[in-house]
Amino acid sequence: MAAPPSNEPANLKVIALDGPAASGKGTLARRLAAHYGFAYLDTGVLYRGVAWTMIKDGVDPADAAAAGRYAREFSLKKIEGAPIRSREVGAAASKVAAVPAVRAALLDFQRDFAANPPGGAAGAILDGRDIGTVVCPDARVKFFVTASPEARARRRWLELRDERPDLTEAAILQDIRERDARDADRKDAPMKPAADAELIDTTHLTIDAVEAAARSLIDGIFRRRRG
Ligand code: DC
Repeated sequence: MAAPPSNEPANLKVIALDGPAASGKGTLARRLAAHYGFAYLDTGVLYRGVAWTMIKDGVDPADAAAAGRYAREFSLKKIEGAPIRSREVGAAASKVAAVPAVRAALLDFQRDFAANPPGGAAGAILDGRDIGTVVCPDARVKFFVTASPEARARRRWLELRDERPDLTEAAILQDIRERDARDADRKDAPMKPAADAELIDTTHLTIDAVEAAARSLIDGIFRRRRG
Protein backbone atom coordinates (compact mmCIF):
# COMPACT_ATOMS: atom_id res chain seq x y z
CA MET A 1 0.00 0.00 0.00
CA ALA A 2 1.03 3.64 -0.50
CA ALA A 3 2.99 5.48 2.19
CA PRO A 4 1.12 8.13 4.20
CA PRO A 5 0.75 11.33 2.11
CA SER A 6 3.27 13.39 4.08
CA ASN A 7 6.91 13.27 4.98
CA GLU A 8 6.16 13.04 8.70
CA PRO A 9 6.82 9.66 10.33
CA ALA A 10 3.65 7.56 10.12
CA ASN A 11 3.52 7.07 13.91
CA LEU A 12 3.18 10.83 14.38
CA LYS A 13 -0.47 10.46 13.49
CA VAL A 14 -1.40 7.36 15.44
CA ILE A 15 -3.50 7.55 18.59
CA ALA A 16 -3.52 4.41 20.75
CA LEU A 17 -6.41 4.14 23.15
CA ASP A 18 -6.51 1.23 25.58
CA GLY A 19 -8.65 0.34 28.53
CA PRO A 20 -11.16 -2.13 29.97
CA ALA A 21 -14.71 -2.84 28.79
CA ALA A 22 -17.21 0.03 29.18
CA SER A 23 -14.52 2.51 30.25
CA GLY A 24 -15.75 4.98 27.64
CA LYS A 25 -12.80 4.43 25.28
CA GLY A 26 -14.99 3.59 22.25
CA THR A 27 -17.08 6.75 22.56
CA LEU A 28 -13.94 8.81 23.09
CA ALA A 29 -12.23 7.16 20.11
CA ARG A 30 -15.18 7.90 17.79
CA ARG A 31 -15.30 11.53 18.90
CA LEU A 32 -11.55 12.03 18.47
CA ALA A 33 -11.63 10.34 15.06
CA ALA A 34 -14.39 12.71 13.92
CA HIS A 35 -12.59 15.76 15.32
CA TYR A 36 -9.16 15.03 13.82
CA GLY A 37 -10.43 13.38 10.61
CA PHE A 38 -8.69 10.10 11.55
CA ALA A 39 -9.72 6.59 10.57
CA TYR A 40 -10.98 4.55 13.53
CA LEU A 41 -10.47 0.86 14.24
CA ASP A 42 -12.24 -0.79 17.17
CA THR A 43 -9.89 -3.76 17.54
CA GLY A 44 -12.30 -5.55 19.90
CA VAL A 45 -14.39 -6.23 16.78
CA LEU A 46 -11.65 -8.54 15.50
CA TYR A 47 -11.63 -10.68 18.66
CA ARG A 48 -15.42 -10.61 18.88
CA GLY A 49 -15.60 -11.56 15.21
CA VAL A 50 -13.36 -14.61 15.68
CA ALA A 51 -15.39 -15.68 18.74
CA TRP A 52 -18.74 -15.18 17.01
CA THR A 53 -17.69 -17.17 13.94
CA MET A 54 -16.67 -20.08 16.19
CA ILE A 55 -19.94 -19.96 18.14
CA LYS A 56 -21.93 -19.82 14.88
CA ASP A 57 -20.12 -22.94 13.66
CA GLY A 58 -20.75 -24.76 16.95
CA VAL A 59 -17.04 -24.72 17.89
CA ASP A 60 -16.04 -24.14 21.53
CA PRO A 61 -14.28 -20.72 21.81
CA ALA A 62 -12.09 -22.23 24.56
CA ASP A 63 -10.51 -24.58 21.95
CA ALA A 64 -7.19 -22.76 21.46
CA ALA A 65 -6.07 -24.65 18.34
CA ALA A 66 -9.42 -24.03 16.63
CA ALA A 67 -9.34 -20.34 17.69
CA GLY A 68 -5.94 -19.93 15.99
CA ARG A 69 -7.31 -21.47 12.78
CA TYR A 70 -10.39 -19.23 12.83
CA ALA A 71 -8.23 -16.14 13.40
CA ARG A 72 -5.97 -16.99 10.44
CA GLU A 73 -9.04 -17.28 8.20
CA PHE A 74 -10.79 -14.24 9.63
CA SER A 75 -11.98 -11.27 7.58
CA LEU A 76 -14.30 -8.40 8.45
CA LYS A 77 -16.48 -9.42 5.52
CA LYS A 78 -17.38 -12.66 7.33
CA ILE A 79 -19.01 -10.79 10.21
CA GLU A 80 -20.94 -8.07 8.35
CA GLY A 81 -24.21 -7.54 10.24
CA ALA A 82 -23.39 -10.26 12.80
CA PRO A 83 -24.60 -9.76 16.40
CA ILE A 84 -21.10 -9.47 17.87
CA ARG A 85 -22.06 -7.03 20.67
CA SER A 86 -23.79 -9.56 22.89
CA ARG A 87 -22.59 -10.38 26.37
CA GLU A 88 -21.93 -14.00 25.34
CA VAL A 89 -19.73 -12.97 22.41
CA GLY A 90 -17.86 -10.51 24.66
CA ALA A 91 -17.06 -13.26 27.15
CA ALA A 92 -15.98 -15.66 24.37
CA ALA A 93 -13.87 -12.89 22.78
CA SER A 94 -11.82 -12.49 25.94
CA LYS A 95 -11.13 -16.27 25.85
CA VAL A 96 -9.94 -16.35 22.23
CA ALA A 97 -7.95 -13.14 22.91
CA ALA A 98 -5.77 -15.06 25.39
CA VAL A 99 -4.55 -17.42 22.65
CA PRO A 100 -1.14 -16.25 21.28
CA ALA A 101 -1.86 -17.66 17.78
CA VAL A 102 -5.04 -15.56 17.62
CA ARG A 103 -3.22 -12.38 18.60
CA ALA A 104 -0.41 -13.07 16.11
CA ALA A 105 -2.90 -13.65 13.29
CA LEU A 106 -4.69 -10.33 13.93
CA LEU A 107 -1.56 -8.20 14.40
CA ASP A 108 -0.68 -7.40 10.77
CA PHE A 109 -4.17 -6.16 9.97
CA GLN A 110 -4.07 -3.73 12.91
CA ARG A 111 -0.56 -2.47 12.11
CA ASP A 112 -1.42 -2.01 8.46
CA PHE A 113 -4.50 0.01 9.42
CA ALA A 114 -2.33 2.29 11.59
CA ALA A 115 0.36 2.74 8.93
CA ASN A 116 -2.07 3.21 6.03
CA PRO A 117 -5.29 4.70 7.39
CA PRO A 118 -8.09 3.86 4.94
CA GLY A 119 -9.87 6.51 2.90
CA GLY A 120 -6.84 8.80 2.81
CA ALA A 121 -7.47 9.79 6.45
CA ALA A 122 -4.92 12.09 8.10
CA GLY A 123 -4.14 9.52 10.79
CA ALA A 124 -5.47 6.51 12.65
CA ILE A 125 -6.95 5.89 16.04
CA LEU A 126 -7.08 2.33 17.35
CA ASP A 127 -8.77 1.23 20.54
CA GLY A 128 -8.25 -2.02 22.40
CA ARG A 129 -6.21 -3.52 25.22
CA ASP A 130 -2.66 -3.69 23.83
CA ILE A 131 -2.47 -0.93 21.22
CA GLY A 132 0.05 1.23 23.10
CA THR A 133 2.08 -1.73 24.36
CA VAL A 134 2.19 -4.18 21.42
CA VAL A 135 0.32 -3.15 18.26
CA CYS A 136 1.61 0.43 17.96
CA PRO A 137 4.31 0.86 20.62
CA ASP A 138 5.66 3.87 18.67
CA ALA A 139 2.34 5.75 18.63
CA ARG A 140 2.96 9.37 19.60
CA VAL A 141 -0.25 9.65 21.59
CA LYS A 142 -1.32 6.93 24.01
CA PHE A 143 -4.21 6.91 26.42
CA PHE A 144 -5.29 4.36 28.99
CA VAL A 145 -8.93 5.02 29.78
CA THR A 146 -10.41 3.47 32.87
CA ALA A 147 -13.27 3.76 35.38
CA SER A 148 -14.28 1.81 38.47
CA PRO A 149 -15.89 -1.59 37.76
CA GLU A 150 -19.10 -0.34 39.41
CA ALA A 151 -19.31 2.74 37.17
CA ARG A 152 -18.68 0.59 34.09
CA ALA A 153 -21.32 -1.95 35.09
CA ARG A 154 -23.87 0.83 35.59
CA ARG A 155 -23.13 2.28 32.14
CA ARG A 156 -23.51 -1.12 30.47
CA TRP A 157 -26.70 -1.81 32.39
CA LEU A 158 -28.20 1.55 31.31
CA GLU A 159 -27.31 0.76 27.70
CA LEU A 160 -28.77 -2.74 27.79
CA ARG A 161 -31.77 -2.53 30.09
CA ASP A 162 -34.44 -1.97 27.38
CA GLU A 163 -33.13 -4.75 25.17
CA ARG A 164 -32.30 -7.18 28.02
CA PRO A 165 -34.61 -6.41 30.99
CA ASP A 166 -33.61 -9.76 32.51
CA LEU A 167 -29.99 -8.64 33.03
CA THR A 168 -29.20 -7.26 36.46
CA GLU A 169 -26.51 -4.72 37.20
CA ALA A 170 -24.92 -7.28 39.55
CA ALA A 171 -24.64 -9.86 36.73
CA ILE A 172 -23.02 -7.27 34.46
CA LEU A 173 -20.58 -6.31 37.23
CA GLN A 174 -19.68 -9.98 37.61
CA ASP A 175 -19.05 -10.25 33.81
CA ILE A 176 -16.90 -7.14 33.88
CA ARG A 177 -14.79 -8.42 36.75
CA GLU A 178 -14.28 -11.79 35.04
CA ARG A 179 -13.40 -10.18 31.73
CA ASP A 180 -10.98 -7.68 33.36
CA ALA A 181 -9.22 -10.55 35.13
CA ARG A 182 -8.90 -12.62 31.92
CA ASP A 183 -7.71 -9.62 29.87
CA ALA A 184 -5.22 -8.39 32.48
CA ASP A 185 -3.86 -11.75 33.64
CA ARG A 186 -3.17 -13.43 30.30
CA LYS A 187 0.50 -13.98 29.44
CA ASP A 188 0.41 -12.63 25.88
CA ALA A 189 -0.18 -8.88 25.50
CA PRO A 190 -2.12 -8.39 28.75
CA MET A 191 -4.24 -5.30 29.20
CA LYS A 192 -2.05 -2.70 30.92
CA PRO A 193 -1.15 0.94 30.44
CA ALA A 194 1.94 1.58 28.31
CA ALA A 195 4.69 3.22 30.37
CA ASP A 196 4.23 6.42 28.34
CA ALA A 197 0.39 6.41 28.28
CA GLU A 198 -1.70 9.22 29.74
CA LEU A 199 -4.19 7.80 32.24
CA ILE A 200 -7.78 9.05 32.14
CA ASP A 201 -10.16 7.90 34.87
CA THR A 202 -13.70 8.53 33.60
CA THR A 203 -15.52 7.38 36.77
CA HIS A 204 -16.67 10.89 37.68
CA LEU A 205 -16.33 12.62 34.31
CA THR A 206 -18.86 13.33 31.56
CA ILE A 207 -17.89 12.27 28.05
CA ASP A 208 -17.59 15.96 27.08
CA ALA A 209 -15.07 16.49 29.88
CA VAL A 210 -13.14 13.37 28.86
CA GLU A 211 -13.00 14.52 25.25
CA ALA A 212 -11.85 18.02 26.22
CA ALA A 213 -9.05 16.60 28.41
CA ALA A 214 -7.92 14.21 25.66
CA ARG A 215 -7.97 16.89 22.98
CA SER A 216 -5.91 19.30 25.00
CA LEU A 217 -3.28 16.60 25.60
CA ILE A 218 -3.26 15.58 21.92
CA ASP A 219 -3.03 19.15 20.65
CA GLY A 220 -0.10 19.75 22.99
CA ILE A 221 1.70 16.61 21.77
CA PHE A 222 1.06 17.34 18.07
CA ARG A 223 2.29 20.92 18.55
CA ARG A 224 5.44 19.79 20.36
CA ARG A 225 6.26 17.21 17.66
CA ARG A 226 5.95 19.80 14.92
CA GLY A 227 7.98 22.45 16.74
O1 DC B 1 -13.31 -3.96 23.61
P1 DC B 1 -14.23 -5.17 23.52
O2 DC B 1 -15.08 -5.37 24.73
O3 DC B 1 -15.04 -5.17 22.26
O4 DC B 1 -13.22 -6.42 23.43
C1 DC B 1 -13.66 -7.75 23.44
C2 DC B 1 -12.54 -8.64 23.97
O5 DC B 1 -11.47 -8.69 23.04
C3 DC B 1 -11.93 -8.19 25.28
O6 DC B 1 -12.42 -8.90 26.39
C4 DC B 1 -10.46 -8.44 25.16
C5 DC B 1 -10.22 -8.63 23.71
N1 DC B 1 -9.37 -7.60 23.11
C6 DC B 1 -8.00 -7.75 23.22
O7 DC B 1 -7.55 -8.70 23.88
N2 DC B 1 -7.15 -6.90 22.60
C7 DC B 1 -7.64 -5.85 21.93
N3 DC B 1 -6.77 -5.01 21.32
C8 DC B 1 -9.04 -5.65 21.83
C9 DC B 1 -9.88 -6.53 22.45
